[in-house]
Amino acid sequence: RKKVTIQTLRNLYKKNEPITVLTASDFPSGHVADTAGMEIVLVGDSLAMVAMGMEDTNEVTMDEMLLHCRSVNRAVKSAFTIADLPMGSYETNPEKALTSAIRMVKEGGMQGIKLEGGAEMAPTIQKITSAGIPVMAHIGLTPQRQHSLGGFRVQGKSVTGAVKLLTDALAVQKAGAFMIIIEAVPAEIAAIVTRRLSVPTIGIGSGNGCSGQVLVQVDMLGNFPEGRFLPKFVKTYGDVWGEARRGIEAYRGEVKSRAFPSREFTYGVDSEALAEFER
Ligand code: KIV
Ligand code: NA
Repeated sequence: RKKVTIQTLRNLYKKNEPITVLTASDFPSGHVADTAGMEIVLVGDSLAMVAMGMEDTNEVTMDEMLLHCRSVNRAVKSAFTIADLPMGSYETNPEKALTSAIRMVKEGGMQGIKLEGGAEMAPTIQKITSAGIPVMAHIGLTPQRQHSLGGFRVQGKSVTGAVKLLTDALAVQKAGAFMIIIEAVPAEIAAIVTRRLSVPTIGIGSGNGCSGQVLVQVDMLGNFPEGRFLPKFVKTYGDVWGEARRGIEAYRGEVKSRAFPSREFTYGVDSEALAEFER
């Protein structure tokens, strides 16, 4: 497969072909996403929860994100790579944001960055894009801002909310964002916003009128312990956790019963050496 460039993504958008995006947080998850044909692999800060067991995304640091980026980058050969700027690494001012974005490229090996926020982030998006680093914006439900949003709630449902969503989308587009994630917005609203833009939108929980879709890999693969809360918009395409657990339980049982390792998993012995050794 050829390397996916920003031009490849623009061509898909022009052809009205949905753009496929999936998160990854380490070498194996990056490798399988790339091999399965994802056009974009996103090192999302959701790795705080799904890879590090944290409560929410606000805890993960820039250095921790960079460690995961490097692992994903070693695996991904074709897909375009993007990483989230974690909370605290970009909000203070555009210069700090650019410094963080440059670290994602130089130390993390990423091709672009994602940041949360709408119109208020326009100067920051402009600063980073003017340095030649592609910026993916993220509007609608922005998890880093959960406390001011009042939790994880659908966005853009009221007229005011829908107008704010469109205003934010137009502002980040004008500032230079090459793509916009729209999270947890009614499908019809996200579709209208998408039609008003000249850059692709990537939906998560925002219906199929967006220019592409993204999901968190462990969620869509069913690779999480029982009891993890899954938002309404997650479709589960596998049972990786169940498969892993079945395998480990079978291994445990066979070790306890000494069924493993059987002959085929052991090395042959030299009978003369054995006889002498036994004496
Ligand atoms: O952190 C993440 O995984 C994300 C995507 C779900 C959009 O931001
Ligand atoms: Na994120």
